[in-house]
Amino acid sequence: MTNKTFYIETYGCQMNFADSEIVNSILLEEGMKPVHDAESADVVLVNTCSIRENAETKVWNRLKELRSIKKENGELTVGVLGCMAERIKDRIIEQEHLVDIVVGPDAYRDIPNLLQEVDDGRKAVNVLLSLEETYADIAPVRTTGNGVNAFVSIMRGCDNMCAFCVVPFTRGRERSRPMGSILKEIKQLSDEGYKEVTLLGQNVNSYLDGETTFTKLMDEASKVDPEIRFRFSSPHPKDFPDDLLHLIAERPNLCNYIHIPAQAGSDTMLERMRRPYTREGYLELIDNMKAIIPGVSLSTDIIAGFCDETEEEHQQTLTLMAEVEYDLAYMFAYSERERTLAARKFEDNVPEETKKRRLSEIITQQREIQERRNKEEVGRRHLVLVESTSKKSDAQLSGRTDTNKMVVFDRKDFKPGDYVEVEVKETTSATLIADPIRKTTLSEYYGAEVVA
Ligand code: 5AD
Ligand code: SF4
Repeated sequence: MTNKTFYIETYGCQMNFADSEIVNSILLEEGMKPVHDAESADVVLVNTCSIRENAETKVWNRLKELRSIKKENGELTVGVLGCMAERIKDRIIEQEHLVDIVVGPDAYRDIPNLLQEVDDGRKAVNVLLSLEETYADIAPVRTTGNGVNAFVSIMRGCDNMCAFCVVPFTRGRERSRPMGSILKEIKQLSDEGYKEVTLLGQNVNSYLDGETTFTKLMDEASKVDPEIRFRFSSPHPKDFPDDLLHLIAERPNLCNYIHIPAQAGSDTMLERMRRPYTREGYLELIDNMKAIIPGVSLSTDIIAGFCDETEEEHQQTLTLMAEVEYDLAYMFAYSERERTLAARKFEDNVPEETKKRRLSEIITQQREIQERRNKEEVGRRHLVLVESTSKKSDAQLSGRTDTNKMVVFDRKDFKPGDYVEVEVKETTSATLIADPIRKTTLSEYYGAEVVA
C-alpha cells in the first residue's frame, strides 16, 4: 500500500469533513501519499451524504465521472465512504461497476485492509456500525483547511429518531468521545496556532462521558486556550441546559451564537416529525437564550412540505421564524428517505409545486429578516477573526464576528488568524462590510470592553 497516492472528496455536513480528516490520518499512517486531484490519484475516496435526495444525486453523478477516469486508468481504485455506504452497498458494487470499496462511518480503521483486498482482486465492503467507535485515539490530519478554523468531533450517531431523518440509520447509535482525548486534540490545535474550534456531533447536548456533561466539556475546552473561540453544532431543543447558557454568557471565548434547529412551527407538525417539544416550549427556550445571553445570534434548520403539511401549519412555520428573528437559517424542501418512520408510515403527499412555493416563501421572509437585522449592525463594532482572502477581491479579507456574521474589509497588514476590531459600514442580507480599526487579541478586546 505504501507507495500509493490518494485523494479524498467530501460531501455533506461538517461531521463528514471531520471524518475525512480521520481517514486522511489513517492513510498517511499507512505511508500513502496525498495528491490534490482525482486524476493523479491511485485511490479516490468519496465521503458521501444521504440527508436529501439531491445530496445523493450529486454523489452518483460524481461517481459516474470517476468511472470515466477509471476507463483511462484501469488501476484506479474508487471507494465510497460515509452515509451512503450502508444504503446502497449492493447497488454500488454489483450493478453499477462504479466502485471497488464501500466503507461505512464506523469502519474507517478497516480501510487499509479493504484496499489490500481490492489489490488482491476482490471488491471490499465494511458497513458495520459500532456502539463504541469514536476514533478517540486518531489525531485528524487537517490538510485542506485554512489553519484558523478546526472541527473537533465529540460524539457520533443519533438516537433521536426524528421521523424525516436518515442519520440514525446511516450513522448508528449515540456515543461520546472521552473528554481527555477531546481536550488533548484542542491543546494540539492551540499549539498549531488554530483560533477557532467547532465541537461537532449530531446531537451535542446529549454528550455524556461518565459524569461529564456537555456543559462541563465546554467549560474545560474553553479553558485550554483563552485565545481560541468555540462554537458547537448541533444541539437539540429538547434538553438544552440553562447552565450552558450562563457559561456562554460569562466566558468571552464561547461564541454568542447558537444553532438551534426548529424544523417547523406548529405543534401538530412537530408531533408528526417526532420532535419532542411544542412551539411554546421552543419559544420559551429562545426567550431564555435572549435573556441570558444579550445580543445572542440564533440560526435554525427548517423543513418545508413534510408529510400532510397544511397551509395553516406552513403559516405557523413562517410566524415562528418571524417571531424568533434568526440571523441565519438552513431551509429545505422535504425529501423522503428510505427506512425512516416517515417513509414507512406517512405519505410524501405535499405536491412538489407546493413544497417549492412554501420553501420560497420561507426563504423570502428569512432574507428580509436578515437584511433588516444586518442594517441594524451599521455603526456597531465587532471582533472579527480573519479566516481568508475575500472571495470577491484579493485586496479584502473575510472573517466572522463572534455572532457568526460574515464580514469583509480591506486587507491592510492583517492576515488570517488575526483578531481585528472592525466597524460596520454597509450590509447585505448575507455579509457585513466593515472598516478595520485595529489588530487585537480576544482577551484584550473583551477585557477592555468590561472596563469601558
Ligand atoms: N428532507 C429535508 N430536510 C431534511 N433534513 C434532515 N432530513 C431531511 C429530509 N428528509 C434537514 C433537517 C436537519 C438538517 C441537517 O437537514 O432540517 O436539521
Ligand atoms: Fe449528510 Fe447527515 Fe450524513 Fe452529515 S450525517 S453526511 S448531513 S446524512
